[in-house]
Amino acid sequence: MGTEIYAHRGASKYAPENTMAAFELAYKMQADGIETDVQLTKDNIPILIHDEKLSRTTNGIGLVKDYTYHELKELDAGNWFGNNYSGQIIPTLEEFLAWVRYKPLKVNIELKNNKIDYKNLEFIVYDMLKAYKLLDKTVLSTFNPLSVNRLKALNQYIEIALLTSRKNKNLVTSARHLGANALHIKYRLLTSRIIEESKMANMKVRVYTVNTSPSIYKSFDLGCNGIFTDVPDIARTIRREHYP
Ligand code: G3P
Ligand code: MG
Repeated sequence: MGTEIYAHRGASKYAPENTMAAFELAYKMQADGIETDVQLTKDNIPILIHDEKLSRTTNGIGLVKDYTYHELKELDAGNWFGNNYSGQIIPTLEEFLAWVRYKPLKVNIELKNNKIDYKNLEFIVYDMLKAYKLLDKTVLSTFNPLSVNRLKALNQYIEIALLTSRKNKNLVTSARHLGANALHIKYRLLTSRIIEESKMANMKVRVYTVNTSPSIYKSFDLGCNGIFTDVPDIARTIRREHYP
């Protein structure tokens, strides 16, 4: 398998990020997988939203963690993007898993626990993936090194990725020591060296967020295992036409 195309927060160039509309579109565009971000509500329901604050992508204010799911499900998560998307709500992780379960799509659940270290987030997400029998096609990722460790302790066989946007000469070795199987790196950190080092250490490399044609070509040329893109349709066309 060449480079896999993960729709970043769904097909988020064309539909409001982290909504069922964006996930449906990514599926229609034949992405190989979907990346999404998970946080916990006040009553510990895992929901899919990127920012800790509600204001950018919903009509709510304040922090996700301060509201119950019952309160958050009343918010509009689509109108900020365009009135044709009003009525979209913040999906729960469970809704998403039920939807993706039998589709030919891989899954990347990013635990958003680098700013707020949600208690038990690892276990809650892991347990639900297990219940839906989705562990085999899922990679769990986080910017929080402690969380990589906690995930590894839950199950040493699941795929865990350390996310990073910072330069670090020892990135591959330190990620390995934490127990990660993959690196999810910011595009500017992508070099042939990191690919080589990761291959030697038997670690996968996926790159975010790859939206322009030159960055898509470079990721494919260097043999990344995956890209995260807001434009899965464009990435698919490039792959079909130039990397058959
Ligand atoms: O998981 C890849 C990417 O989504 C990480 O950054 O801020 O877009 O969640 P962010
Ligand atoms: Mg993300």
